[in-house]
Amino acid sequence: MLILGIESSCDETAAAVSENGTKILSSVISTQIEEHKKYGGVVPEIASRRHCENILGVVKKSLKDAGKTLDEIDAVAVTYAPGLIGALLVGVNFAKGLAMASDKPLVPVHHISGHIAANYIAHSDLKPPYLCLVASGGHSHIVEVLDYTKFHVVGRTRDDAAGECFDKCARAMGFPYPGGVHIDKASVSGNKDAYELPRPKVTGSEFDFSFSGLKTAVINLLHNSQQKGIEINKNDLSAGIQYTISDILCEKTMAAAEMLGYKTIAVAGGVSANSGVRAAFEKACAERDMKLYLPPLNLCGDNGAMIACQGYYNYLAGQRGDESLNAVATLSLEEI
Ligand code: KG4
Ligand code: ZN
Repeated sequence: MLILGIESSCDETAAAVSENGTKILSSVISTQIEEHKKYGGVVPEIASRRHCENILGVVKKSLKDAGKTLDEIDAVAVTYAPGLIGALLVGVNFAKGLAMASDKPLVPVHHISGHIAANYIAHSDLKPPYLCLVASGGHSHIVEVLDYTKFHVVGRTRDDAAGECFDKCARAMGFPYPGGVHIDKASVSGNKDAYELPRPKVTGSEFDFSFSGLKTAVINLLHNSQQKGIEINKNDLSAGIQYTISDILCEKTMAAAEMLGYKTIAVAGGVSANSGVRAAFEKACAERDMKLYLPPLNLCGDNGAMIACQGYYNYLAGQRGDESLNAVATLSLEEI
């Protein structure tokens, strides 16, 4: 069964063709990063316009690269939530038009479930149930993946997402957008203990995250140093930020896994590309005799392949969108 997956929730216009979910025949990603870089972050209005300009070309190329025609596609899957509303609307409306005009089923996909599905593409032995940390620019969730289409969120961020914290700290340090990867690179030669950074205290749910305090501490440290004329070592500060974020993400996920009895762990989302996060999970899972699944680097960030893959499972579960399908900016994984 061939699924065309379309993704436009943020600043990547992406489309892919999957065969039976996990075999990816093509994956095309048109990124807008260079344009948003000028503004230090994603400008929603510009993102929507670029999706509008790029989407047809990206979809056509995904079909061409897969060696398939639209006629051969069995269903059209699309990210409909969560994300930037104007950006999502482009993908949803395009997919809807395509599906309705070609008389094919339309399958709505929740963006976070797409990130989770990225691991199925790379790891054929990964099967629910398991515990997954999804850490991206917009989300930090600890999710019980009960089945391919059934999720229970056991922890989430109270404020900034992990990727957002990376990016905002990076921006304050003068790195270009998106800064997570620059902190990752600078960390390699840094001393993580050179600066004292706070670890957030979250009262209530022990598996919830809070990253805004860390971000504020980094910004204050940079301002104070600047005022006093003290030079900050960016490599050391990067190493400290990366270590702190990785350690918090890993510690809470391990605590949730131990409490809920999971021995299989996955990590997904843009932040799963971070070398510190990957190393922390590798170490923690080895120590606890847990099986760890990490996506390959090309499937960590936003892409159409993960949407085509999750679209396949949603299709099998009977999930369909009709002509009234709309984009939703904020939607819990449990509401789908
Ligand atoms: O999943 P994603 O592509 O988009 C969202 O759904 O948000 O995640 C993007 C986030 C950005 O915050 C980006 O800085 C972060 O993932 N990211 C990284 C790395 N690569 C991407 N953060 C830290 N280290 C990296 N190597
Ligand atoms: Zn994403």
